[in-house]
Amino acid sequence: MTDPALTADLALPAVAVATGATEQLDRPRVAAVAPALPDDPVWWRSAVIYQVYVRSFADANGDGTGDLAGVQSRLPYLRDLGVDAIWFTPWYLSPLADGGYDVADYRAIDPAFGSLAEAEALIADALTYGIRTIVDIVPNHVSDQHAWFQAALAAGPGSPERERFWFRPGRGASGHEPPTRWPSEFLGGQTWTRTVGPDGLPGDWYLHLFTAEQPDLNWDHPDVRAEHEAILRFWFDRGAGGVRIDSAALLVKDPAMPEVPEDPAAGEHPLHDRDEIHDIYRGWRRVADDYPGARVLVGEVWLEDPDRFARYLRPDELHTAFNFDFMARPWDAASLRASIDATLAAHAPVGAPPTWVLSNHDVTRPVTRYGRADSSFAFARKRFGTPSDPTLGRRRARAAALLTAALPGSLYLYQGDELGLDEVDVARDEIQDPMHARSGGVDPGRDGCRVPLPWSGAEPPFGFSPSDARGRPWLTQPPHWAQLTVEAQAADPGSMLNLYRAALRIRRSEPGLGDGPMTWVPAPPDILAFQRGDDFLSVTNLSDAAVPLPPHRGVLLASADLSDAHLPPDASVWLRPDRVSTDAAWRLPDDDR
Ligand code: NOJ
Repeated sequence: MTDPALTADLALPAVAVATGATEQLDRPRVAAVAPALPDDPVWWRSAVIYQVYVRSFADANGDGTGDLAGVQSRLPYLRDLGVDAIWFTPWYLSPLADGGYDVADYRAIDPAFGSLAEAEALIADALTYGIRTIVDIVPNHVSDQHAWFQAALAAGPGSPERERFWFRPGRGASGHEPPTRWPSEFLGGQTWTRTVGPDGLPGDWYLHLFTAEQPDLNWDHPDVRAEHEAILRFWFDRGAGGVRIDSAALLVKDPAMPEVPEDPAAGEHPLHDRDEIHDIYRGWRRVADDYPGARVLVGEVWLEDPDRFARYLRPDELHTAFNFDFMARPWDAASLRASIDATLAAHAPVGAPPTWVLSNHDVTRPVTRYGRADSSFAFARKRFGTPSDPTLGRRRARAAALLTAALPGSLYLYQGDELGLDEVDVARDEIQDPMHARSGGVDPGRDGCRVPLPWSGAEPPFGFSPSDARGRPWLTQPPHWAQLTVEAQAADPGSMLNLYRAALRIRRSEPGLGDGPMTWVPAPPDILAFQRGDDFLSVTNLSDAAVPLPPHRGVLLASADLSDAHLPPDASVWLRPDRVSTDAAWRLPDDDR
């Protein structure tokens, strides 16, 4: 069925490419079939969104790299898991200098992953399973192979083509020093690269906050704005239910290019979270609101100040943004509770629902993180060989799954976390993530959480690729994943996979869960207990001793065995409480005497 309103939109030219070579390419201007999205204006406020890292999800053509046909074949798996949407990491044409976050053409699918027709079919087919698609838009930078950047290099200094980027002469008598000492967003390395002219002589420098293959766009330029709004329309026209916005707080730079002040409190930062950025997202919101079916904008916003963060979520800007504060916290009751409180307090004034995120393709897997002596997360602290206790980590990750699924708002689930996969120690000579090289080989990079998923069987490729595959998975899977395959876990009622399936099933049917209020319940130290709705209590034990369960009428789900009506350490339980009032008394050990 095609939504008539959507079809009407499609009569208009969907792609208004501002300028440049992209317009000349021969490709469909509108989707062959524009699927209709269910008409639920608030779906995103409670949604469970599953992140597919396409390269590592499922490989249908046997070349060792995941692809869209692989995702297509696994849609029933995602339906059975109980997700509302898939967020696809970039699937566009890309030299993969940064795993696809270096986009050469936002309207083409990389041939390694499939074709535009396959993407359209996937979006439509997912909808038939009740699953929306969120595409990943990368607005801060493009690939150095993008037509605009190639044109800028060819056109030379002072050309209008170069104005879409940040080209600047170097400092020093011969221009041999970069224009600023701005730090890289990738831990180490330069943020400027010097061009070489046709005469072979060094020329101007261009800005790249990430790798040299990712030149930053100049968001003061009208082409850049127009082009991105056209890209949004391109994907909304094809049925995308939303966009995830990469590096969303970095787009605008101070054209005067002052150095980053030593004191973070000293005025506006030259490249982080500048006030002008909000106008861009107001424009994007107008585009999203033009479409039926509640198309959403989700920001990747890394900001420490919760109030600055919440400014992105004002009613005419983004719908939601990733809550990284919670993700970065250690497994500690006071710290997690403080983060939950700060999150709710920051979101309340703007009326946006919080999001709960335990990991993604950039950070250490929860099973490994939570098994460490220091279970907090920080990019700068990643090191090879950091010890972790996988049994402890898995127990905590199970508890965290129930804790986050019970909190108010929407939930993100990174592929493989539902299997309790651990971070893999990828061999140095296999690492592809540029973060590793840019750190001078000190940082293991992010490939450890990007290893292809284990689906079935007793040895690699564990069903990731077909049995007659001609290529090996692009990163080596560890042998112990034989116990963690989907096949093995589906058959085990106590598995992580079955815990997630049960949790998401309850989350969907339980009236108090998802968006809405929560109330803390008084509890013993290091216990996080809160009520949702009239009849749902979530309890997580972060202490090192078992605690008696509070008075309850029934157990809905537990992350660990409840022996003798006690909740073991590092475990969560969902209960039907005995009392419905928020001051429900806990039966402390003393009460038993
Ligand atoms: C954030 C993405 O999640 C990450 O993978 C990427 O490297 C950077 N942005 C740059 O696009």
